[in-house]
Amino acid sequence: MQGAAVLIGDQLGLYKALSEGPMTPDGLAKKTGTAERYIREWLAGQVAGGYVNYDSATKKYLMTPEQAFTMANENSPVYIPGAFYLVSSVYKDRGRLADAFRTGKGVGWHEHHNDLFMGTHKFFRPGYLANLVSSWLPSLDGVVSKLEAGALVADVGCGYGSSTVIMAKAFPKSRFIGYDYHLESIEWAKNVAVSEGVTGNTTFEVATAKDYPRQGFDLVTFFDCLHDMGDPVGAAKHVHQSLKPDGTWMIVEPYANERLEENLNPVGRIFYNASSLICVPSSLAQEVGLALGAQAGDSKIGEIATLGGFKGFRRATQTPFNRIFEARP
Ligand SMILES: C[S@@+](CC[C@H](N)C(=O)[O-])C[C@H]1O[C@@H](n2cnc3c(N)ncnc32)[C@H](O)[C@@H]1O
Repeated sequence: MQGAAVLIGDQLGLYKALSEGPMTPDGLAKKTGTAERYIREWLAGQVAGGYVNYDSATKKYLMTPEQAFTMANENSPVYIPGAFYLVSSVYKDRGRLADAFRTGKGVGWHEHHNDLFMGTHKFFRPGYLANLVSSWLPSLDGVVSKLEAGALVADVGCGYGSSTVIMAKAFPKSRFIGYDYHLESIEWAKNVAVSEGVTGNTTFEVATAKDYPRQGFDLVTFFDCLHDMGDPVGAAKHVHQSLKPDGTWMIVEPYANERLEENLNPVGRIFYNASSLICVPSSLAQEVGLALGAQAGDSKIGEIATLGGFKGFRRATQTPFNRIFEARP
């Protein structure tokens, strides 16, 4: 119940409006173009859940800086509503997923409810904003200096393009092409490129990881998508032939240790369940259907890079939620 209420708060801008200062239900309703009776009840639920505070002396509702940081500010590193969209999508797709558990057939990324695409975008973007330019790219050998000078970059499986746009803004002399097989995501990303003002150095195209055109890339990035692919080895081979001889393949995968018993913690709990409901079905819907799973260990990811023809492979850095790998031709 709280989850659906959070989504409505995010969708209608209720958290964002309330984060500006203490308000009565009527004040929040007027500010957001909503109905006071609904807002009063929504606020009560938010206070009961600890997402909003209530001052009984003034009868006003307010958000602490911590609550605003988490629920209202989409640029903060801990903005969390994206997770609720992801949860929403798997509840909506549960019937189809249960059928797939019986038949063993896949459920393609594109076959899920739209909440999955929005959820992925909103859930991962804060981590990319917090880490990609400041820590992940600098962990790769020689990549930042190339990006500063002007490099050609492919962001494969780019979804709504948040990683592509963040890099394009940080490195205006470089040229970025976001590829994804999912048409709706690419259309969304094209609109984001316009609204974020990066069309000068960024384009988005529909293509799979095994057939994207062009060669001579300095950097090819895969953000949280290698394990969703049916044929990650085929993708690795395609990346290999598309890179310059001194290029870099950056692979971002969910945090995981090597063995199941080392992943029995809150992060593993989220990722194994997301894997069975989203990632494994996505891979099984594509050719080969390797179904790596979202918790494949470093050795498995390294094996894929090696089979793709890469000579160098290492874990370059990590966060509690991500592993960042560097593969060199
Ligand atoms: C978990 S999402 C990650 C999206 C984006 N990189 C991000 O981090 O927000 C996985 C993405 O991989 C894409 N994808 C899956 N299989 C693909 C394939 N074979 N070729 C290209 N893209 C693929 C999906 O359409 C989806 O957008």
